[in-house]
Amino acid sequence: MSWISTRARNTAPSPTLGMNARANALKAQGVDVVGFGAGEPDFDTPDHIKQAAIEALNRGFTKYTPSSGIEELRKAICAKLDRENGLSYEPKQIIVSAGAKHTIYNIFQAVLDPGHEVIIPVPYWVSYPEQVKLAGGVPVYVPAPEENGFRVTAAAIAAAITPRTRVIVVNSPSNPSGAVIEPEELRRIAALAVEHNLLVLSDEIYEHLTYGRPHVSIATFGPEVQKRTLVVNGFSKAYSMTGWRLGWLAGDAEIVAAMGRIQDQSTSNPTSFAQAGAVAALNGPQECVATMRAAFQERRDRMVARLNAIPGVRCVLPDGAFYVLPSVAGLLSDRFPDSDALAEHLLSEAKIAVVPGSGFGTPQNLRLSYATSMEQINKGLDRLEAAARSLSGA
Ligand SMILES: Cc1ncc(COP(=O)(O)O)c(C=O)c1O
Repeated sequence: MSWISTRARNTAPSPTLGMNARANALKAQGVDVVGFGAGEPDFDTPDHIKQAAIEALNRGFTKYTPSSGIEELRKAICAKLDRENGLSYEPKQIIVSAGAKHTIYNIFQAVLDPGHEVIIPVPYWVSYPEQVKLAGGVPVYVPAPEENGFRVTAAAIAAAITPRTRVIVVNSPSNPSGAVIEPEELRRIAALAVEHNLLVLSDEIYEHLTYGRPHVSIATFGPEVQKRTLVVNGFSKAYSMTGWRLGWLAGDAEIVAAMGRIQDQSTSNPTSFAQAGAVAALNGPQECVATMRAAFQERRDRMVARLNAIPGVRCVLPDGAFYVLPSVAGLLSDRFPDSDALAEHLLSEAKIAVVPGSGFGTPQNLRLSYATSMEQINKGLDRLEAAARSLSGA
């Protein structure tokens, strides 16, 4: 007899965290692995943010806070939404959680009943389907095909709507593809949500990482859309604060209150002094964000140019985030029938850690993160090129 619940048995492990752990274990053994697996910026957290947390610790800000986050941080988030997105919210419409992953978990717990369907574009961030299932919901997949730059269309979403649909997931810029959905398409998706009275979970965690175009939140297409949109964001990617574990939601006050009750009975507040750092991140100077963005853009350009020069590899130029999702269909064979087998081979033989696309619903692709130095990018792509040439006989 197993002690493990059906729910836990049915939850897939995170392939991204798994690949990272394996690469780190090899590195700890002294193996020179080039890691393209990580979903986190390689920069340090900016100093003024760290100082704010240190000051909070020194003044004894080390106790429980309100479980949905301190008022000062929720106000700073409202000010950010107003300043950067032109969206008006009150603090009671904001909840802060232990990372955006936790925010999204709480959303599904708060809005799904068993059998409710959630529309998820493919390729998707690995946690959406698992979190939907953990809440008793049913993931419904719609294509965001490579031919369309991995951008989902309103038409594809419309075709998947049923009477059981509750939520449409929009993740622009996307993990794993980096795709940014055009504002006009977002407007059409917004219209669908209003027409069918659906919620939109808009995961905007890569908002600040768009290259050559501004970020547009789907919530900006009028009050009817804003009412139904659950804007998710956080500090991990824009401010290089992955370890701080802080994410947030802006949305309908009733949903925020329901999430608050779930948070009250599960985790309570996000870490007190981390919240003080987050206030400094939002209210302080923003040059650090632009500096990191510029570095990412240069790396993206190098990465995509080099990948497209490798036989058997084809890579779309993404407009955002810090990932590329090249097709490696040209490298698959009886020996390596899918990207899982290929990623294994690349780790053990070429000493490069990449994430197989199967976890994102795209088994013919690999995800490479370029949140690493240019030197590592060059070294890793030299290795990938050599491995690809030997596989394809080119
Ligand atoms: C699309 C997307 N959403 C949410 C998250 C969660 O971020 P965090 O929990 O670190 O705030 C990630 C992290 O990789 C992500 O890629």
